[in-house]
Amino acid sequence: MRILLSPDAAGAAEVAAAVVAASVADLAFPVLGVATGSSPQPFYRALTARVAAGLDLSRAAAFALDEYVGLPVDHPESYHSVIAREVTGPLGLDPSRVHVPEGAAADPTEAAARYEAAISGAGGVDLQILGIGANGHIGFNEPGSAPDSRTRVVELAPRTVADNSRFFDGDAGLVPTHALTQGIGTILDAREIVLIAWGESKAEAVARAVEGPQTTGLPASFLQRHGRVTLVLDAAAASRLSPASLPAEAAR
Ligand code: GLP
Repeated sequence: MRILLSPDAAGAAEVAAAVVAASVADLAFPVLGVATGSSPQPFYRALTARVAAGLDLSRAAAFALDEYVGLPVDHPESYHSVIAREVTGPLGLDPSRVHVPEGAAADPTEAAARYEAAISGAGGVDLQILGIGANGHIGFNEPGSAPDSRTRVVELAPRTVADNSRFFDGDAGLVPTHALTQGIGTILDAREIVLIAWGESKAEAVARAVEGPQTTGLPASFLQRHGRVTLVLDAAAASRLSPASLPAEAAR
């Protein structure tokens, strides 16, 4: 896995935005995979600045990683709302080309199959943006998720419910217990992956993802199977990586 380092989250966001801008530059109709959570927020702001400076994403399609099950689409913390607010609008994407799993569908399992078909129908994801949970989850693929898993309904880990309660007035009882998420296999089908992590709370998960064994206990470790993954980290998130994993200029 390629690792790019920056001193802080804002710097990492700029680096990630540069990587993504370069990757989509040659694509007439880029298909982006987009993540929610706090990790990509500075990145979206950095990419928005590039859009203001001329980067055209109006022909891009986007597929969100996941969505809560049982939360109304118009709830401010539904990922439909978050993606519209933080991604579609600021980046100037065409809303009709932005897709989020239908967590509010009467039959979420059927909605999962439809989502897989929609990704395939768009030609697959060119570039997937990822965050990482403190427990090593990617999307909502919690520990125990299989590397060949596809889009499906999952139960959130207690740690994730606690972590995400900050988006629900600090009340874990308001956080949905289930979600619809792209599987690890779905994520690994993307042609390129850029994972953004910053802050000390991600340091252990990052170190295990890069250096640990591939294990269902740490879902992000399966990213080691992908040939084109870039981790963009700030110093705190990189703090538990061994020097051998770091870019040469940082290890000196
Ligand atoms: C959330 C999302 C993930 C995200 C992760 C980390 O629950 N489902 O896609 O990467 O958890 O969130 P954050 O970036 O806020 O730490």
